[in-house]
Amino acid sequence: MSVEVHAVRSLSAAAEITVSLVTAEAVKAGIEGATPRQLELAGFEGKADQVHVWPESGRSRALVGLGPESEVDHRSFRRAGAAVARSCSRHARAGVELPADPAAGTRRALAEGVVLGAYGYTDLKSDPTEAKLRRVDVAGSAGARARGEIERGAAVAAGQCLARDLVNEPGGSLTAPALAARAAEIGRSAGLGAKVWTEAEIKRRRLGGLLGVNRGSTNPPRFVELDHRPEGEAKGSLALVGKGVTFDAGGLNIKTAAGMLTMKMDMAGAAAVIGAMSVIGALAPPVRVRAFLPMTDNMLGGDATRPGDVLRIRNGKTIEVVNTDAEGRLILADALSLASEAKPDAIVDLATLTGACMVALGPRIAGLMGNNRDWVDQIRAAAEAAGERVWPLPLPRDYESQFESGVADMKNLGGPHGGAITAGLILQRFVADGTAWAHLDIAGPSYSDADYGEIPKGGTGFGVRTLVELASGFAKPAPAPAPG
Ligand code: BES
Ligand code: MN
Ligand code: ZN
Repeated sequence: MSVEVHAVRSLSAAAEITVSLVTAEAVKAGIEGATPRQLELAGFEGKADQVHVWPESGRSRALVGLGPESEVDHRSFRRAGAAVARSCSRHARAGVELPADPAAGTRRALAEGVVLGAYGYTDLKSDPTEAKLRRVDVAGSAGARARGEIERGAAVAAGQCLARDLVNEPGGSLTAPALAARAAEIGRSAGLGAKVWTEAEIKRRRLGGLLGVNRGSTNPPRFVELDHRPEGEAKGSLALVGKGVTFDAGGLNIKTAAGMLTMKMDMAGAAAVIGAMSVIGALAPPVRVRAFLPMTDNMLGGDATRPGDVLRIRNGKTIEVVNTDAEGRLILADALSLASEAKPDAIVDLATLTGACMVALGPRIAGLMGNNRDWVDQIRAAAEAAGERVWPLPLPRDYESQFESGVADMKNLGGPHGGAITAGLILQRFVADGTAWAHLDIAGPSYSDADYGEIPKGGTGFGVRTLVELASGFAKPAPAPAPG
């Protein structure tokens, strides 16, 4: 059960624990109810993630550190919110006091952090240790602006938790048909248009990449479209594309045991888009937003695509499959072709596409590529505002020679170096000329091997907050070629 975050004027006596968020400087200056000696003995200095709890007249009092004042921003409050959720998990109701005059965005980040920090994936535990925390009150938040921030933060974080659940569900149960049914159900309950294409429809529409990857599977593929149509006049239209590989065994180019272990997460791009669409349906920004989600697993059945096979993508281009484990680009090629046919003002795709992107940027930062400087900048700004880390990589035209094929229009693989970039260049071939497009390689940040701030071990829901921010502030990108 998830936690509710309430905006209140002042904390009620019903809160079993009250938490103050404090900077390192505030701790030095002295805290009401705790002597400097007590704090020193507890080793509490107000560093980020530090928590100090003590009993006070039959209730609990706590301090959560924000770090040094000069480093405090919305990220600090998101992280502190998660620390609040964790440190209050044994109480049903908690209250939080913010520092005086919090900046705009503080309450929103705090609410996000509380909901994200309270998250746990317990669906498959017979006897889960459930947290008791049901409600967190945020003091000093009686005004409409403050309330709006808290409501929005909690709603976006709930969409992110939904994406986490999808990523954490094992590949054996969340097959393409199961994921498609969930996406449609989530979409409909958020008031979105939802359409699920069956295998017959996928064949009729000639999605050769999706069909090629699916050949080794006993589960049929699916293609899902979700649609947010604003009531009034739209400020533009946006297409979201997400890689939905429900399990990536690598195909006949089978992965190693270690490489395969976490590959239920290979639908994290689709999960992020589904989570974001659920929030976009509720917030209803004045922008048309359509999602294009190809879904399959990548298995090794007797009729699996063989290395050397050539697939014909929706837009007519042919790809020689030299490595069946480079499957994401094959299904995204179809999805980007379809998204282009819808003639949106801009496209963004999210995909757990390459291990190479993790080599380049490490596990916690997504790679950002695109064909339009203005659009790439909008995504960087949205990610920054949402507190998700992305970093640009170039798409140099001359690297395209790496995936020339002797038999088809291209191979599905470049050379041994710069794999995140060559994957991006291959995707670019399926975006219509003149359509602004960007690609987020989220292979690293979609899945975590440990708890870290508001990020849990396992599926992280990375990308949901950036997409909601992007749709909310969307402006048609100006034609502006990105540097390559
Ligand atoms: N889904 C993987 C990429 C991936 C790797 C995501 C690790 C998350 C963590 C993708 O389909 C893949 O297998 N990529 C290969 C490409 C290679 C065959 C060119 C890779 O990165 O090793
Ligand atoms: Mn793969
Ligand atoms: Zn994959």
